Amino acid sequence: MPAIVVVGAQWGDEGKGKTTDILGTSVDYVVKPNGGNNAGHTVVVGGEKYELKLLPAGILSPNVTPVIGNGVVVNLEALFEEIDALESRGADTSKLRISANAHLVAPYHQTLDKVTERFLGKRAIGTTGRGIGPAYMDKIGRLGIRVQDVFDESILRQKIEGSLRQKNELLVKVYNRRAVSVEEIVEYFEPFIERLRPYVAETELMLNEALDRGEVVVMEGGQATMLDVDHGTYPFVTSSNPTAGGSCVGTGIGPTRINRVVGIVKAYTTRVGAGPFPTELFDEMGEYLQKAGGEFGVNTGRPRRCGWYDAVIARYAARTNGFTDYVLTKLDVLTGIERIPVCVAYEVDGERHDEMPVSQTEFHHAKPIFEYFDGWTEDITKARTFDDLPENAQKYVLALEELSSCRMSVIGVGPDREQSIVRHDLLD
Ligand code: GDP
Ligand code: IMO
Ligand code: MG
Repeated sequence: MPAIVVVGAQWGDEGKGKTTDILGTSVDYVVKPNGGNNAGHTVVVGGEKYELKLLPAGILSPNVTPVIGNGVVVNLEALFEEIDALESRGADTSKLRISANAHLVAPYHQTLDKVTERFLGKRAIGTTGRGIGPAYMDKIGRLGIRVQDVFDESILRQKIEGSLRQKNELLVKVYNRRAVSVEEIVEYFEPFIERLRPYVAETELMLNEALDRGEVVVMEGGQATMLDVDHGTYPFVTSSNPTAGGSCVGTGIGPTRINRVVGIVKAYTTRVGAGPFPTELFDEMGEYLQKAGGEFGVNTGRPRRCGWYDAVIARYAARTNGFTDYVLTKLDVLTGIERIPVCVAYEVDGERHDEMPVSQTEFHHAKPIFEYFDGWTEDITKARTFDDLPENAQKYVLALEELSSCRMSVIGVGPDREQSIVRHDLLD
């Protein structure tokens, strides 16, 4: 019966990987609907840390079939590196299935990502440099190369040729780079083709048949609501739709089959890359959160910008995605902070905004209006029920619940699988 969508509510790195992993034993399929190896999902199992980029977190649960959905852009080199690294640690990746319709990231996409950023100068987005934007541009521009194309050499050549004709003009004439030959791209894909074959499947049918049998499918989104190309802080976004609707498009599962949409939200806020961030801290408190929360990107190692919880964003995310539940992560990181500010509204040019301002200019000017909550000093990393939490931590969670217009069903009190408080079962 159930299809469950896991969506980041902020700017990414909320703990989507951990959430998928804790659902693990009761789940049959975990499918990644969007993004590529720009994501970095950390899962800690019994003290062992795994950093997943292209692969969904379900890969660490032996009973789960992990799936790379049609909406993903796949870098084959990165995929096999990740598979090899996991296999060398004893994980079994043989059940992985990859949609024949997923698009491929080619080396020229990475080149274009980097030169575009350079040309943007001060207006650069701060992408991960993985070629994600250019690969999605080719997909939408109908110049993309799909997984299925590599199995027919003449089709592969035709597609590469079609894509390169325009790209070489751009690389040489605009960006002053060397032209790329069809041959070198064919040669780039060649060593991966036979290795890829057994993983490729009609995953869209497979997932729907699983749902027909009453099995559980988790759609583990990459990135997050505020990085969504339609609903995020455009242009400082990624090039896919990480919001709940995007997970239907990216898997071939229809919206009527989804019965839970779970938003993942940190007890504070972080952001990697450029773009507006109203609650950002520029003082030692920001540095404190960065250190206490280990806020360094999995993917690029960049320090994450840190700030307070933003309930305006949480309400916006709840409404844009239709969340049924929130998973609140990293509550333990706030232990020891005397007074915790929470942004409840913005002030924009002297006016109060309780909801997201309509224009980006206004959002850039938004100043947080804070409410303050008393902190706690007790170690909460061993709390396993809501009642185990100190009174002030309980009050903080209940206040966020009230302000964020969605119930906080699970609370994270540490990175490990076991370090969660379940108030409402996500699979009920
Ligand atoms: P994702 O991209 O949304 O999957 O999140 P990341 O894995 O990039 O970043 C979240 C980080 O927080 C990871 O290092 C997790 O191990 C860690 N984490 C997740 N939940 C908790 C929690 O409740 N407490 C603490 N301290 N760390 C957590
Ligand atoms: P997970 O799934 C945080 C950010 C980049 C940049 C913008 C565009 O781990 O939450 P891109 O390379 O996608 O074109 O970069 O999006 N970004 C992320 N930030 N977590 C992610 O993934 C991200 N994926 C992309 O930093 O600002
Ligand atoms: Mg991440």
